[in-house]
Amino acid sequence: MSEFNGPAQDIFGRSLFFACSAVALYTGYQLVIAIYNVWFHPLASFPGPRIAAATQIPYVKAPTWSGYRLLSCHFIDASAWHDIHGHHADAQPFEKDPRLNVKCFNNVDNLFTAKHEDHERMRKVLGHAFSERAIKEQEPTVQLYIEKLIHRLHEQISSSSQAKVDMVKWYDWLSFDIIDLTFGSSFKCLETQANHWWVDMVFGSIEAIVFMGACHRFTISRTLLTYLIPKRYKKMFEDHWKATEETLACRIKLGTNRHDFMSPILENNIDGKGLNRHEMLSNAWHFINAGSGTTAGILSATVYFLARDPKILSIITAELPYLLYCLSETNRIMPVVLMSQAVLVPPRGATICGYWVPGNTGVTNNQYACYRSKTNFKNPDNDVPERWLDDPDYVSDQRQVLQPFSYGARNCIGKRQVTPPFLGTMELQLALARTIWNFDVGICEESAMDWDDQKVYMIWKKTPLIIRLAASTQAKSH
Ligand code: HEM
Repeated sequence: MSEFNGPAQDIFGRSLFFACSAVALYTGYQLVIAIYNVWFHPLASFPGPRIAAATQIPYVKAPTWSGYRLLSCHFIDASAWHDIHGHHADAQPFEKDPRLNVKCFNNVDNLFTAKHEDHERMRKVLGHAFSERAIKEQEPTVQLYIEKLIHRLHEQISSSSQAKVDMVKWYDWLSFDIIDLTFGSSFKCLETQANHWWVDMVFGSIEAIVFMGACHRFTISRTLLTYLIPKRYKKMFEDHWKATEETLACRIKLGTNRHDFMSPILENNIDGKGLNRHEMLSNAWHFINAGSGTTAGILSATVYFLARDPKILSIITAELPYLLYCLSETNRIMPVVLMSQAVLVPPRGATICGYWVPGNTGVTNNQYACYRSKTNFKNPDNDVPERWLDDPDYVSDQRQVLQPFSYGARNCIGKRQVTPPFLGTMELQLALARTIWNFDVGICEESAMDWDDQKVYMIWKKTPLIIRLAASTQAKSH
């Protein structure tokens, strides 16, 4: 026994020594990096918490993702939009940060991840789906589903004079049904009053993307990542991908006679020279992610702020255009995309908001911080739609800073600067106006206090929003 213990103990001792040395070396290395980052890095003079400069951990724990493996700068000044995402003659573009803009399953670029030239090519083709003509043609489909939503909500209160409903669910169902515009087939959520399995996969996949972004902060390779990613995320990612692939194939077979996103894209993708089949798939996958949770998020949040404040609600009921100011205010207080376009400064560096920023630094417009900062808005945490109405108390507000759909060549493709301005808004205005016109809404105790205090995985992870609905006087009289 003692003969065996001797060498075994020796091996154990040596292993322990190597393990401790490795840990000590790694800790020492991280300490040196932290000291360099905090005091000697070219970005050391930028304001911000020292701990965030020293280590990546606060970024992963922070309520929102979108950081960088190396130091990153988050800007909140209005000029940052133009400095980072605007067109500058003779300047190199700020490319998307490949470490944080995660590619799809097929490892093929889409609008979110493509480099400048490829992005331009794809956007040219995909942009046809959002032309003024295309949007007008899509409007009946949007109207149809909004009508369905209102009809279903009326059913909820038909047996009694009022009902308690979770508006997060209803708006999720609406926006997922409208995906009909991408694939030519609806998820039928409003009909079945249940989440289609695809809905859960979409939200799961968004969480998976965030998880991967967080891993990238620690230089974890894509291969290793596939082992690290929790199984349930992996499965959702895979299933979402497979379902997109199959549904897209069916939609392409239907041809170009439908008034949806795909017809103008297929019509203009002549000989497949614009986008190849893999790029179509990669983009279709992202269209579902980008176009559903976002719209549902802003709808729920606006109803929350309205239902909480009977004074604002009574103004809207009297003058519906006031709704637009409420929408702007919701976009400010609870922007759907909290951080915009994680990009890298071009190699030769750039000046942003008067600061010189070295090449390859990760930069972003931090929408949430920007809109909640006293440097941009008076009483930033208060819900004040009047600030968008030239209220003299709020003349100092930096209103131009509000860009919920981002800015420049890579802004939201769902946004169209025509009348009605953009699909997002068309859908939003119609759905909200119809809800407020048809129902008296009141907030229930369960959601009254802190519904807006939610976790964030790129977009808000919405908790149930319990609203009391009753048929409105104007709806009753029609
Ligand atoms: C309230 C609704 C919406 C908001 C607030 C919103 C916001 C945004 C933002 C901030 C970006 C930039 C993303 C980035 O930082 O990289 C973006 C991009 C994008 N959005 Fe939206 N979005 C909305 C609705 C939609 C809809 C309805 C669609 C499609 C049907 C859509 C499709 C896209 C696509 C494809 C991109 C990528 C554009 C590109 O890189 O060229 N979004 N959106």
